Amino acid sequence: MTLPAGGSAPAGASAPIGLFDSGVGGLSVWREIVRQLPSESTIYLADRAHVPYGNREAEEIRHFSVHITERLVEAGCKAVVVACNTASAVALHSLRRRFPGLPILGLEPAVKPAVALTRSGVVGVMATPATFQGELYRATVGRHAVDVRVVEQVCIGLAELVESGALDDPASDAELQRFLEPMLAAGADTIVLGCTHYPFVIEAIRRLVGPGLQVVDPAPAVARHLGQLLQREGLALPSGQGRHRFFTTGDPACFDRAAARLVSVQSASQPLAWRRSSGGELLLPMV
Ligand code: DGL
Repeated sequence: MTLPAGGSAPAGASAPIGLFDSGVGGLSVWREIVRQLPSESTIYLADRAHVPYGNREAEEIRHFSVHITERLVEAGCKAVVVACNTASAVALHSLRRRFPGLPILGLEPAVKPAVALTRSGVVGVMATPATFQGELYRATVGRHAVDVRVVEQVCIGLAELVESGALDDPASDAELQRFLEPMLAAGADTIVLGCTHYPFVIEAIRRLVGPGLQVVDPAPAVARHLGQLLQREGLALPSGQGRHRFFTTGDPACFDRAAARLVSVQSASQPLAWRRSSGGELLLPMV
């Protein structure tokens, strides 16, 4: 199988936008892109064979991200959204180096808007361990969190909870409460959802923290940036109705159930497989 050279996608404005995440979390970004840019088509890839990314080594996440982006380029995508904070935190720079001609947008915890919103001077950030360790997060905090205290809350298990769909379970409220408590105790009045899975529990978070706290979901801003980026690159599709395709390296029926429940879409996802090789796992092409 021959892979295209990095960034050589012969893609025009009618080509789709590629998105990927470890699972269903990136659908929180997909939903916003479809809402703001209805004429754009998308290809969404959920790497459920490897979910969660958040507890993995950076090198491994970079490897998955590069292979997935190659497949999206091969499928003709005109731009790629890394709809995963974890993959963005550790792989965004490598992806941009590897695919220099391809517009690539990543997710970074929305520390900047949170700093503008806070009155108490304390901002809480919920994210995975790999996101907090990544260079992107450190740079974001260094740049924007001047004179503001940032309380980092690692939320191990929360992405899996969203994947499993056990959101109405009282045990999940108790789990959420455990993550929220240290940020509230430190005086945070603004909480950043630093993982694309977490907007799917935003209502539960709001209910638990009460009306005085602001909860920041970066998806609307990401969709806006994407629209501006496509305009700038001459890649925006002004009219029409977008088509949406879904792929998963996990069980398609399971992904489809989650997509229907979370974003009310009949995804009819197609399976994709990773194959072991001497150089690590290789993602087989989309058909
Ligand atoms: N949705 C992802 C993120 O934004 C990944 C969660 C995980 O797989 O650990 O960080």
